[in-house]
Amino acid sequence: MASVLTILCVGDVFGEPGRRAVEKVLPRLKKQHEADLAIVNVENAAAGFGVTPALARDILSHGADVMTSGNHIWDKKEIIEYIAKENLLLRPANFPAGAPGAGSIVVKAGPHKVAVLNLMGRVFLPSLDCPFRKADEEIARLKLETPVVIVDMHCEATSESQAMGWYLDGRVSAVVGTHRHVQTADERVLPQGTAYITDLGMTGPTDSVIGVEPAIALQRFLTQMPNRFEPAKGPAALHGVVIRVDAETGRGLSIERLRVPAPA
Ligand SMILES: [Fe+2]
Repeated sequence: MASVLTILCVGDVFGEPGRRAVEKVLPRLKKQHEADLAIVNVENAAAGFGVTPALARDILSHGADVMTSGNHIWDKKEIIEYIAKENLLLRPANFPAGAPGAGSIVVKAGPHKVAVLNLMGRVFLPSLDCPFRKADEEIARLKLETPVVIVDMHCEATSESQAMGWYLDGRVSAVVGTHRHVQTADERVLPQGTAYITDLGMTGPTDSVIGVEPAIALQRFLTQMPNRFEPAKGPAALHGVVIRVDAETGRGLSIERLRVPAPA
């Protein structure tokens, strides 16, 4: 019988409500799905802007095995020193050479190894190096160590995520999107065996505008005046997917969406 790896991918953790959802839901989910690994995008964990070393450690303690990020990674300056030492927190691999930290890692999952690669799109986001060419380079290196490669493609444009899904179909186990904070309903295994979803959604406050208190977000839209964003209060949920991968070939076997409310 083929050995199958079960991997949870958790969408962007937003502020205290998101951290609460991770704490209350992730350990239970890992047990329920007998997950070998949990990959959590943490770039909005600190009140929506970046992540601090203390919060990163906290999220690891609640069951994250690898943490990914995106455009907000440098918002909290203290993370620069942390990321240079802590390889379980990734920043997009296509930041230009010289940026601290790493964009990929290979970790153990039981007897197997899993590579996690973080990339960021360039449409409506800062123009980093080309994520497609960086993917080629990184995947060639990572596949020397393991056939199982999971890609977090942090994008604003849905087209750019889908393009990366097709670009990597058959070459990686999964491409999952983050950043938009709204879960998409297009999860599928692409023809050559790559599990795909355009966006995992957000792990954060349910009654919000992509995490922000609705009144504050509305004021910005209605007046076009700058104001300070704050995470919404109230109920929270964890959004993400559970992926099954053939550990020998790296082929994505299934992908299922998760939307789990956190207990109050
Ligand atoms: Fe983002």
